[in-house]
Amino acid sequence: MPAPRIRTYIRGLDEQLQGGVPKAHVVLLAGKPGTMKSSVAFSMVYHNAKSDGLGCVYVTLEQSRDSLLENMAGLGMDIKGLESKLSVLDLGLIRKKLKQLANKSWLEVFKMYVDNLDKTMDISLLVIDSLPVLEVMAKFEDPRDDLFRFFEWLRELEITTVLIAEMEQDSDKFCTNGEDFLSDGILHLDLRREDRQVNLFVSVVKMRKTAHRRGYYPLIFDEGGFEVVTH
Ligand SMILES: Nc1ncnc2c1ncn2[C@@H]1O[C@H](COP(=O)(O)OP(=O)(O)OP(=O)(O)O)[C@@H](O)[C@H]1O
Ligand SMILES: [Mg+2]
Repeated sequence: MPAPRIRTYIRGLDEQLQGGVPKAHVVLLAGKPGTMKSSVAFSMVYHNAKSDGLGCVYVTLEQSRDSLLENMAGLGMDIKGLESKLSVLDLGLIRKKLKQLANKSWLEVFKMYVDNLDKTMDISLLVIDSLPVLEVMAKFEDPRDDLFRFFEWLRELEITTVLIAEMEQDSDKFCTNGEDFLSDGILHLDLRREDRQVNLFVSVVKMRKTAHRRGYYPLIFDEGGFEVVTH
């Protein structure tokens, strides 16, 4: 039996991934600033909630909820009417919880929040925007070990997770604490200059349980959402 999958809703890419990301995978979505990481991840929760009725959560730790939702509405992804399936939370909301639970650490509060949402809405897909900010907030002492435990916790909940990894402008590293080895998959978004044009490309760097191609394919966005050009 093929592993059940969660669609990326990037047309052309799901076909390359035998239908999408295997369920309960923890996947890095890596890219330098402005490579549409947040937009690609949001499109994934938006369409999984809207078209498949799956419970989705988007945690924005970098950008406020209002600013993110405004951006996404501008891209044609308005969450009105989807609130029972798509929950968007930011640091402000988590801080409020933290005040009520003063004896708990940030990560404990975060996990409790996700656990509670999972009980009420059955989360299939979780996005964390971004992983470096989560690591700072959680004050990991031994990042590799702490991350290993965090990834295991997500896998046990059977939540498919997209972790946004922010790449430095002048580096080809996806991350700094070995998250690339710990993760089940890596999608890389890359802006490339061709003459005077800058185009966006996507590559599946790794995806466990999946036979996939390894090239870089142009990624375009229009009213219908994201699409890779494979021909
Ligand atoms: N329809 C579109 N086609 C191409 N690019 C767009 C479109 N709409 C918005 N953008 C641009 O995409 C850029 C990045 O979007 P997004 O915020 O998703 O990227 P990001 O990688 O999450 O950025 P950051 O590094 O700031 O977190 C925005 O600056 C915006 O100008
Ligand atoms: Mg972003």
